[in-house]
Amino acid sequence: MSDSLAPDAVAPHIRGRFGKPYRYEPECESTQLLLLGSGLAEGATAATDHQTEGKGRHGRQWVAPPGSSVLASLMLHPPAERHLPELSLVAALAAAEAIEGATGLTAQIKWPNDVMLNRRKVAGILCELSDGAVVAGIGLNVNQARDELPLDAPTEPGSLRTLTGRTYDRAALLGSLLFRLERIYDGWRHGGLDDLYGEIGARDFLRGRRITIDGEEATALQILRNGQLEVATGNGHGETRTIESGEVLFER
Ligand code: BTN
Repeated sequence: MSDSLAPDAVAPHIRGRFGKPYRYEPECESTQLLLLGSGLAEGATAATDHQTEGKGRHGRQWVAPPGSSVLASLMLHPPAERHLPELSLVAALAAAEAIEGATGLTAQIKWPNDVMLNRRKVAGILCELSDGAVVAGIGLNVNQARDELPLDAPTEPGSLRTLTGRTYDRAALLGSLLFRLERIYDGWRHGGLDDLYGEIGARDFLRGRRITIDGEEATALQILRNGQLEVATGNGHGETRTIESGEVLFER
C-alpha cells in the first residue's frame, strides 16, 4: 500500500486532465499557497503529505498528522457566467463520490462545503479566488486514528479509518477524487448545478435538521438549485429565507 502522495504513487491513478501537472512536496505550509498566483492551467494539482499551516475556512487551521490524509489543491478556471460559490458543492460531491467508491458507504454533503460519513466530518473544501482563477483545496481525513483527530473542530471530525475500521491507499483516493471532480466540474461548467442537483440533493445532510447559522437558529429545508440553503426561521409560521454562505452548526 502506498504511504505517500509522491508522483510515482499517484501517477498510475491519474486518468484525465486533472492532476496534470502534478506538484508534490513531502511537506509544505499549505498546498493552496503552491497554486495561488501561479497562473497554472486548469487541472494543475498540488499535493503534500504534511501541511504546517493548513488553511481551513473562516480563518481556522486544517490540522492532520504527516501521512494521514489527502491534502490537495486544484487550479480551476471557471467560465465567467458560472456562480463561483457553487464550486464548493461541486468539489464536495466529487469527494463524497470518491469516499463512497472506497468505503461502499453513502457520504453526505453538509452545505456548503463539508463531506460527512456517519455524522462525522471527513472532508472539507476551501475555494480561494486568485486572479480570476479558483484554487480549490480538499482535505480528506483518511487514516487518522481517533486520537489523531482535532478535538476543537466545530463539526465532529472522523476519518475513513475511524468510521470503517480499515486503512486506505491515499494515492488511489486522490486519483479517484480528481477523476470524479473532472467529470462533475465539466458538467457544471456546461450547465451549472442543474444536472448535478439530483446527486447533491440526495446527499443533503442538513435537510430537516435544527441548525444555527451564523448565530441564528433555524430549520434547514434544502439546498436549492442555485446552491443556496433554504431555511425556515421563526417558530413554524412559514417564514423561509435563503442563505448564500455561512457556517452552519447542527444539533446532534
Ligand atoms: C474546511 O475548513 O473545512 C476546509 C478545509 C480545507 C483543507 C484543505 S487541505 C488541502 C488544502 N490546503 C489547505 O491549506 N487547505 C486545503
